[in-house]
Amino acid sequence: MKTTAQKQMAPVLRIVPKDENTLVTNLITQKENIAVVGLGYVGLPLALEFASILKVKGFDISESKVKAMKEKNDPSNELSEAHFNEKKIEFSSDERILEQARFYVVAVPTPVTSDNVPNLKPLISATETVARHLKRDDYVVFESTVYPGCTEEVCVPILENISGLKLNQDFKVGYSPERINPGDTQNTVTTITKVVSGSDEEAAEQIANVYDLIIEAGVHVAPNIKTAEACKVVENTQRDVNIALMNELSMLFEKMGINTNDVLRATKTKWNALPFFPGLVGGHCIGVDPYYLAYKANELGVESDIILTSRKVNEELPKRIADNVKQALLKNNKNIAKSKVLVRGITFKENVSDIRNSKVANMIHNLKAMGAQVNIEDPFASSEEVEKEYGLSLYQGSSSEKYDAIIIAVAHNQYRFHNADYYKKMSNDKAIVFDLRNIVTEVDTEMDYYTL
Ligand SMILES: NC(=O)c1ccc[n+]([C@@H]2O[C@H](COP(=O)([O-])OP(=O)(O)OC[C@H]3O[C@@H](n4cnc5c(N)ncnc54)[C@H](O)[C@@H]3O)[C@@H](O)[C@H]2O)c1
Repeated sequence: MKTTAQKQMAPVLRIVPKDENTLVTNLITQKENIAVVGLGYVGLPLALEFASILKVKGFDISESKVKAMKEKNDPSNELSEAHFNEKKIEFSSDERILEQARFYVVAVPTPVTSDNVPNLKPLISATETVARHLKRDDYVVFESTVYPGCTEEVCVPILENISGLKLNQDFKVGYSPERINPGDTQNTVTTITKVVSGSDEEAAEQIANVYDLIIEAGVHVAPNIKTAEACKVVENTQRDVNIALMNELSMLFEKMGINTNDVLRATKTKWNALPFFPGLVGGHCIGVDPYYLAYKANELGVESDIILTSRKVNEELPKRIADNVKQALLKNNKNIAKSKVLVRGITFKENVSDIRNSKVANMIHNLKAMGAQVNIEDPFASSEEVEKEYGLSLYQGSSSEKYDAIIIAVAHNQYRFHNADYYKKMSNDKAIVFDLRNIVTEVDTEMDYYTL
């Protein structure tokens, strides 16, 4: 095993098992099993990837999801039936399948409460489940996004207390953040470098060896668990802060009559310009993870002004857009309370069906509060889920409906490349198009066109 200093210098390590008796050898020869706890966006693709070569126990508390997976359906709609074919995996919502595992991966949700503080209930509950089956020489790797310190301060005591075993003496722990990007078919589990860490050097090496079996891009061994935890929250906080800056600039440029996208096109000509754009920040990662970091900072008495201000700027955008739509309609002598608005897209990002923490829904609620009649469409979202999560209905009526405002909220492929005529046909006189994703290529000269 290389020293920590060497490890940090080498960004990508490929570690080959040295002897016959390693954990990896036992997993490959299927003497021992790997278990994945929590089979959602993160857990299922990982479990199936491992199941190409290892024997995998897939555990999830949701019986309906387990039923779907047994029938080769991905409840998150990301994977096709082919991904399930010829995989050595057993799905169950009965935790007894965990008894046979030697290497556990935990990938359960880590949301925030309504006060934006970490809600660790699913993580604690999943850790308790693993602890009930923990045996001597087992490994537990957490993949859920957490604040630095969470694995060792929250999860390890649970594992030790319930199992009666001692960390590093009897069992080992690790942390490996998942960095997949929903809807992205290029950057997948296996093609993104996997950051891994362990509770001691031996754990880090063994965990790296296990992931190295499936990760084509290789593994990067972080010097300790806290560093690997920080890596993930920093990646998403960095995005949140940069998008907040763009949202703030777009607010300023709007007042100055400058088109932000034109500015960004110009800045892009410099080699070191960062490719960030204004926009809604939703979903369960970028809009959530910074709160985990801010929570820990607060606990340590460190002010996280930049992180929290960025969150505030991004959280205010849905209301700001609704206000802008109102003003734009007023400019055309239209009262928003008597206007018909079409919102195209409600998922948290393009070309996915995931509506969790969608800020488009917040924008719609603001428009409705102003009295607008809003029709919502989305080719990916489930109308039942939209109804359940937000109390909103997807529009199922006539496509010949005419609108005063059309808001392109999500850059689904279906909304790209429509010509001016297309928008004209669905518009009342003096209608406006609000293109939040900057994808509309052409609008009629009689229509007002806005971007962020
Ligand atoms: N979705 C992403 O793109 C993404 C990317 C990187 C990291 N993450 C992080 O990975 C973690 C998992 O996210 P996700 O998007 O896969 O969540 P998800 O909601 O899609 O899936 C989580 C699964 O865990 C199950 N679950 C909940 N509590 C459980 C328990 N106690 N025992 C067993 N199963 C349980 C749920 O039924 C669900 O199927 C989160 O911490 C998230 O922040 C997500």
